Amino acid sequence: MYNFDQIVDRAHTSNVKYDLREMYFGNADVMPMWVADMDFETPDFITQAVQKRAAHPVYGYTFMPEAYYSSIIIWLQKRHCWPIEKDWMIFSPGIVPAINFAVQAFTKKGEGVIVQPPVYFPFFSAIEDQGRRRLDNQLIFDGERYRIDFDDLEKKAKDAQMIFISNPHNPVGRSWTKDELQQMADICMRHDVVMISDEIHNDIVLPGHKHQPMALVSEEANELTVSCIAPSKTFNIAGLSTSTVIIKNPELHNKFKKVLDDAHIQSGNLFGIEASIAAYTHGEVWLGEMLDYLQNNFNFLADAIHNTFKSIRVINAESTYLAWLDFRDCQFSDEELKELLVEKAGLGLSPGSIFGPGGEGFQRMNFAAPKSVVTEAVARLKKVFN
Ligand SMILES: Cc1ncc(COP(=O)(O)O)c(C=O)c1O
Repeated sequence: MYNFDQIVDRAHTSNVKYDLREMYFGNADVMPMWVADMDFETPDFITQAVQKRAAHPVYGYTFMPEAYYSSIIIWLQKRHCWPIEKDWMIFSPGIVPAINFAVQAFTKKGEGVIVQPPVYFPFFSAIEDQGRRRLDNQLIFDGERYRIDFDDLEKKAKDAQMIFISNPHNPVGRSWTKDELQQMADICMRHDVVMISDEIHNDIVLPGHKHQPMALVSEEANELTVSCIAPSKTFNIAGLSTSTVIIKNPELHNKFKKVLDDAHIQSGNLFGIEASIAAYTHGEVWLGEMLDYLQNNFNFLADAIHNTFKSIRVINAESTYLAWLDFRDCQFSDEELKELLVEKAGLGLSPGSIFGPGGEGFQRMNFAAPKSVVTEAVARLKKVFN
């Protein structure tokens, strides 16, 4: 029904991915496969809802209507068998703001916060810029797949107040299993570590895999869990700054809400609200088709790289639209790799080193683009790495 092959000209729309290439790569012509949004059109049922609201000539103060909450509640129940209540939900103008607010709500200056690198780098600045101590529980890579170092986590948890969990994990593409999350939760419960489960990618789980919300691991785990969800990645509406934090435990809920109330962040974005309701009400068919398209893109990319390059490997993506490419066998420094990718191949990827320890020698490639773009990216890699 939907056409994901269509190329959409995004230049000069004040979007980071295309319009800030010069600033980030020093080259405005690279094929941009870095920022985590999609090159697909935002689906029509969302653009129509936004256009309908935009047609009314007054854009005054707004609030979250009942449909905002009920559309999310129904979606989570249907897609993740996750029953939540309206009273647990708090609006946030994004997940990055939410994790920064969580630092303020649940930790004091000098206290420890665990991250699991290589991981989404704004986790680092949320901790360090606010004077907290970052504790790295680096993931273990066995050459095929990433897993959690539970022994190290147990040690770090003794010294920590909170952990940021990327679930599913950006950039390594893991959908953590119930067993893995259970083990993580058991450790955190033993040491009273608040778990911020960033589930922004929860709906971008590729066919054959399943998203496990941390809050559903057990009743006890839910008491220590702060879940962050949003329609932004799934439906390509990141520019509308609309997301939701779900906290069942009243004590944690009130602490978090107080930080947002103090910052007077309650009303949300008029168009974000309409988009969120439309996404969660009408999004299922589109999402199903989009996930099949993503899987097809990933299979193409993985096969092409496997068949063409001896020294580049693709880590299997269980979720997200971000491929994690291992260039370590090429034996280039990160600087040399950047120079080759940007200047010789004309490709704008995210260097692995920005995701912290364990990211060196890797690159992250966003494959949420028409297949012709992914095909061209492989051709550009061939020009240089063959
Ligand atoms: C794990 C993760 N969290 C948060 C975000 C961004 O959140 P937001 O745009 O809602 O601030 C991203 C975007 O790539 C992400 O990958």
